[in-house]
Amino acid sequence: DSGAKQGSEKVLRVGTNADFAPFEFQNVNGKEYEGFDMDLIRAVAKEMGYKAEIQNVNFDGLIPAMESGNLDVIISGMTINDERKQKVNFSDPYYKSGLTIIVKKDNKEINKFADLKGKKVAVQIGTTSAKECRKIEGIEVKEFNSSADTFLELKAGGVDAVVNDRPVNDYYIKKSGVTDVRALDDLLTSEDYGIAMSKKDAEMQKKVNEALKKLHENGEYDKIFAKWFGT
Ligand code: ARG
Repeated sequence: DSGAKQGSEKVLRVGTNADFAPFEFQNVNGKEYEGFDMDLIRAVAKEMGYKAEIQNVNFDGLIPAMESGNLDVIISGMTINDERKQKVNFSDPYYKSGLTIIVKKDNKEINKFADLKGKKVAVQIGTTSAKECRKIEGIEVKEFNSSADTFLELKAGGVDAVVNDRPVNDYYIKKSGVTDVRALDDLLTSEDYGIAMSKKDAEMQKKVNEALKKLHENGEYDKIFAKWFGT
């Protein structure tokens, strides 16, 4: 049985990197964890008879934390890929994403991924953005601990561009109040987000997938989606 027991309620230890709005972030006042992923995992846990207990971990520390037994699941806008599949099991996909570029509005040189050649680009450590950018020849990749730090670096003029997940870039443009940046249309990849869990617990994967299926059937998934992405 996964999850430590606390009183009579089973706890699902959830790892995330809570600096990735609108998927996971800490609300400034209460430090509550909010976002699409947070609502989804709470609903999944409830469906499974657990209470989700969120832990904030560096993105590149999430899989190691699960491998050492400190987390039951990871939900962190994490893209399902072969490299990660060697270490963890993933749920069925729950969100379709991809990578885009953000530049300052006055930057007319960068209009697509190929234009990043010879440019300085900020990415978050351990992400698909970091991996994909390193494949572009002649690019100078600067890696940061959080996606928020990549935006700050662009603002400070330390890089020419940020590469990050499209929905997170779009949310930043819409909600941050920063007006001198724009997101480019060029989409580099097509990525599916999944909930990750330990390979040692095959039952967990089944239970999470059943819960996800249920939430799709009963309309709860659509409600959560509409809350964060509009209808
Ligand atoms: N989807 C990308 C990946 O899996 C980025 C995820 C970053 N998530 C986060 N919470 N910072 O590599």
